[in-house]
Amino acid sequence: TRVAVIGGGTSSEHDVSNATADSISTTLAGLDEFEVLRMDITRCGGWQDADGSALDAAVALGKLARCEVLFGSVHGPGGEDGTLAALASLLGVAVVGSGLTAGALAMDKWVTKLVAAEVGVQVAAGRLVRPDDLVTWEGPVVVKPVAAGSSNGVSLVREPGDLEVALKAAFAEDDRVLVEEVVEGREIDVAVLRRADGTLLVTPALEVHVDGFFDYDAKYGGSDGTRFEVPAPITGAERAELERQAVDVFEALGCAGVARVDFFLTERGWVLNEVNTVPGMTATSQVPLMAAAAGMTYAELLSDLVRSARV
Ligand code: DAL
Ligand code: MG
Repeated sequence: TRVAVIGGGTSSEHDVSNATADSISTTLAGLDEFEVLRMDITRCGGWQDADGSALDAAVALGKLARCEVLFGSVHGPGGEDGTLAALASLLGVAVVGSGLTAGALAMDKWVTKLVAAEVGVQVAAGRLVRPDDLVTWEGPVVVKPVAAGSSNGVSLVREPGDLEVALKAAFAEDDRVLVEEVVEGREIDVAVLRRADGTLLVTPALEVHVDGFFDYDAKYGGSDGTRFEVPAPITGAERAELERQAVDVFEALGCAGVARVDFFLTERGWVLNEVNTVPGMTATSQVPLMAAAAGMTYAELLSDLVRSARV
């Protein structure tokens, strides 16, 4: 099977996308069933080859069209938001994971809240603000762009004087911003996989232990402050409820392949944080760790995802 692995992208998660694309392409290339074509989207939106040489867009699309499957690894807007899946679909190339609609819905944290609430999943109370809206201090809040990933542009605001800077950082990522209540709870993620045989797998959950806020530096700065615990220590009842909610959100958004569904476990139960349709997928990222706890090696996870790809 000829698989195109595309990384990079124009979003602020460019480097993270490349890290995932490197891992995926190296691992798939090591398996006999797959022939891998690696291409990347540059920060400016151009295309380049595996060796970094510029590719004319028409040439890049021609190469993609000759593959059978796209394994997109572009986090954030311009990739994960469904654009890359849509491009592949138009070329008749099967896509690993979510298609256009689920990608677009899940990238939009505001719409995700509406959908989640509709299927009985709690979300943080919040309001959507536009650049000209007046935001007054009513207490600590989390300020985040509607569409961005890896916590880019997200701030926890505890002091009134920090609100303006936080809004500015969020508006640098998107022209729609969410101002949300601060959710106090444990940060626990779970992966939902629609496997190639059609069955649904909900992995053991993973708890993120972090000193303070799980921001970009905590995620990728190699900071010792972050530790993943798999399986997360939760009760059977909490597990059953987590599973139901994760699957309901996955299905309601129309996700395919794998999605990482991030929750907070609070005094009032599970509160959805977000859904990642192109989650970080290096061998040591959350999804592969959770898949391993479910008995799937990294290579098995990736090859199952490729086999589950649909046009
Ligand atoms: N947005 C990052 C890559 C993640 O969800 O893993
Ligand atoms: Mg994310």
